[in-house]
Amino acid sequence: MAILLCCKERTSSLPVARGLGAAFAHRIVSQGGNVVIADVLVEEGRHLADELGGAARFAQLDVTDAEQWQTVVQTTLAEFGSISGLVNNAGISSAALVADEALEHFRKVIEVNLIGVFIGMQAVIAPMRAHGGGSIVNISSAAGLVGLALTSGYGASKWGVRGLSKVAAIELGPEWIRVNSVHPGVVYTPDDGQRGLPAGGGQQADHCHGPRGHRR
Ligand SMILES: NC(=O)c1ccc[n+]([C@@H]2O[C@H](COP(=O)([O-])OP(=O)(O)OC[C@H]3O[C@@H](n4cnc5c(N)ncnc54)[C@H](O)[C@@H]3O)[C@@H](O)[C@H]2O)c1
Repeated sequence: MAILLCCKERTSSLPVARGLGAAFAHRIVSQGGNVVIADVLVEEGRHLADELGGAARFAQLDVTDAEQWQTVVQTTLAEFGSISGLVNNAGISSAALVADEALEHFRKVIEVNLIGVFIGMQAVIAPMRAHGGGSIVNISSAAGLVGLALTSGYGASKWGVRGLSKVAAIELGPEWIRVNSVHPGVVYTPDDGQRGLPAGGGQQADHCHGPRGHRR
């Protein structure tokens, strides 16, 4: 999921239909922003946009597809006039040891988690320049700060997101486009519930729940 944010004073964009992305979208709208929620999950994305009301739109997006990113950007500009923010939130995980990880799955994780972030950033640079600046937030992970077992493709992609964000921050900073990576620890999401994992006793966020295990 990606969420494109279109704040009232500064328009932005980002990918999100559930989990952390849904919580980000709720918070942004509660702070007066407009959002375009972009995700492969059409039903969940539309439902979230409906829940958020007039400040939100949904657009179908596979973050690995550059043409679809262009369509989402055009939709955002048509609906809200400018783009001042992007949250690159889409992500899939790994759960195998390096010795056992399937090459195909490793490639898939890199494609979604790292190349998707690259394409998304490229897609919003021109509209952010036109806007006079903006903010790109790339959701990495604690697995992008340390080495965690069972995260081969995931960890590699999240370290890549961190490095790519630093490069882009240096290149785009002079144009008032900020680029940051965020490195959450473990956050319980509906995906965990569907896989039968119990929620921990931590404090609940808007749509996600507290600390739980050590998947990421
Ligand atoms: N939940 C955690 O503990 C945790 C910890 C650290 C980092 N993160 C990161 O936070 C982000 C959100 O994770 P989450 O826990 O909410 O997971 P989630 O599975 O609930 O949400 C991920 C979203 O990405 C979407 N998505 C997946 N592939 C996509 C694609 N190709 N194109 C568009 N959308 C796609 C999914 O449909 C889903 O809406 C991810 O990048 C994840 O790696 C999560």
